[in-house]
Amino acid sequence: MGTENPLLTRAYALAGDRDDIRAVYADWAESYDDDTLIGMGYVAPAIAAETLASEISSSDRVLDAGCGTGLVGKELHEQCEPTIDGVDLSADMLKKARQKGVYDALETADLTQKLDIKDDAYDGVISVGVFTSGHVGPSAMNELVRVIKPGAPAVITVHEKVWDKDGYAEHLEQMEQDGIAKIREIREAPYHQKEGYSCKLCILEAA
Ligand SMILES: C[S@@+](CC[C@H](N)C(=O)[O-])C[C@H]1O[C@@H](n2cnc3c(N)ncnc32)[C@H](O)[C@@H]1O
Repeated sequence: MGTENPLLTRAYALAGDRDDIRAVYADWAESYDDDTLIGMGYVAPAIAAETLASEISSSDRVLDAGCGTGLVGKELHEQCEPTIDGVDLSADMLKKARQKGVYDALETADLTQKLDIKDDAYDGVISVGVFTSGHVGPSAMNELVRVIKPGAPAVITVHEKVWDKDGYAEHLEQMEQDGIAKIREIREAPYHQKEGYSCKLCILEAA
């Protein structure tokens, strides 16, 4: 593992405070794409987008939850051209996402709160890099499956650092028991290849 990018170190040191999260990503928005894709070998957006793309068609509307600068939207657009909406806490990251020209609607939103989105609004949801240290915890998954249609796919990465610590396996089992979602697959996937980090790629289906 090489020397960690100082902005990545700041991101991993977050503790869920909304202002701190906004401050880190305000500083990171400009260099984020190069720092992560080139500097860290950030392959999770491509892997997750490919996974969702295999489940949907170009006539579908999907939500990119915690879309950041739009790396996931760009991949999805290249792979199957669905209509993509994005939400994120950081207005600075959303500004960069807007410049990619692949999103329909882009709004600020806090994924730890109830979203201003109707039940069953989307044909799929994707969230990459958001379920990680000090960002968003497992309970936010319930809101993601609420906004997709029954049977629609949710593709979510969970960083290896928080999988056990924050009780994701137990939370997902509880979601199944509560009849909110079915777990289709949970598999180990590369995340930041150059930093040596992996993630759990969770493929759920709204019940
Ligand atoms: C590591 S970036 C991932 C961005 C993008 N999905 C990607 O893969 O490049 C994490 C993103 O989560 C967003 N975020 C953190 N906490 C959030 C929250 N409570 N609600 C919405 N977005 C949040 C940050 O603003 C940031 O854009």
